Amino acid sequence: MTDIIDGNAVASEVRDGLGDAIETLDDAGVTPGLATVLMSDDPASETYVSMKQRDCAEVGIEAFDYELDPDTPAAELYDLIDDLNADEDVHGILVQMPVPDHVDSREVLRSIDPAKDVDGFHPENVGRLVAGDARFKPCTPHGIQKLLDAAGVDPEGKEVVVVGRSDIVGKPMANLLIQKAPGGNATVTVCHSRTEDLSEHTRRADVVVAACGVPELVTGEMLSEGVVVVDVGVNRVDADTEKGYELVGDVEFESAEEQASAITPVPGGVGPMTRAMLLWNTVKAAAEAEG
Ligand code: GUN
Repeated sequence: MTDIIDGNAVASEVRDGLGDAIETLDDAGVTPGLATVLMSDDPASETYVSMKQRDCAEVGIEAFDYELDPDTPAAELYDLIDDLNADEDVHGILVQMPVPDHVDSREVLRSIDPAKDVDGFHPENVGRLVAGDARFKPCTPHGIQKLLDAAGVDPEGKEVVVVGRSDIVGKPMANLLIQKAPGGNATVTVCHSRTEDLSEHTRRADVVVAACGVPELVTGEMLSEGVVVVDVGVNRVDADTEKGYELVGDVEFESAEEQASAITPVPGGVGPMTRAMLLWNTVKAAAEAEG
């Protein structure tokens, strides 16, 4: 029997676990605050941001919502970030990626106060993560560590193949997995679009983390029996449904499930964990700012 790892249930546990910290802050007259900045009319980005805001309301984090027209000059975005950096009610700042082409995303990430960088994308925080001294672990890889732990999968000593080398998931995931720390101690291979024979790597894996943004790239025949599969992909593909599309992961679920001992579904796997860890980082930022 394959274990279908329930991200919604684990995310709910993470949210419940934040209750005490939020109450302690509340007793001190502090409400954790998260500012979200959306500079896109991409429907998926709009949905993600609104879900993040809803999550905040649910646990007692105040969400400050900013929407900028995608044509807004970059200088206005930097002015807004400066204001949010200075705002004592704002403990975390999230600029939804991707930003429009006329905005330099690296400059955006550099302009956020590292102490409010709840994504963990500022170069200072990336450096700290790589050095094994993370201030904020990026939400998706941190959520995956929690999900594996909840499913009773310890990466220590295992062959983990990460498919994808993005700054948001692939790179920080690989870094966390090689660290000498709980949830780490794995032997990690990072594959990407230039990898010559992807199957050769994935077939060796005890755990596969698919985060390449290619719908259903990883299929059952690329996996060995008993593998643990973590699917980070959320791809909209045309389908004869009410919305005109359906969501599929980077893994072909049906064939992969036949090989896997455990697998995350899409939706309902990694996605809810990413959002839960954003709340976690926001509460951490508030506690550190006020403590
Ligand atoms: N776009 C896709 N994932 C993320 C994320 O985790 N944080 C931000 N800021 N943008 C994203």
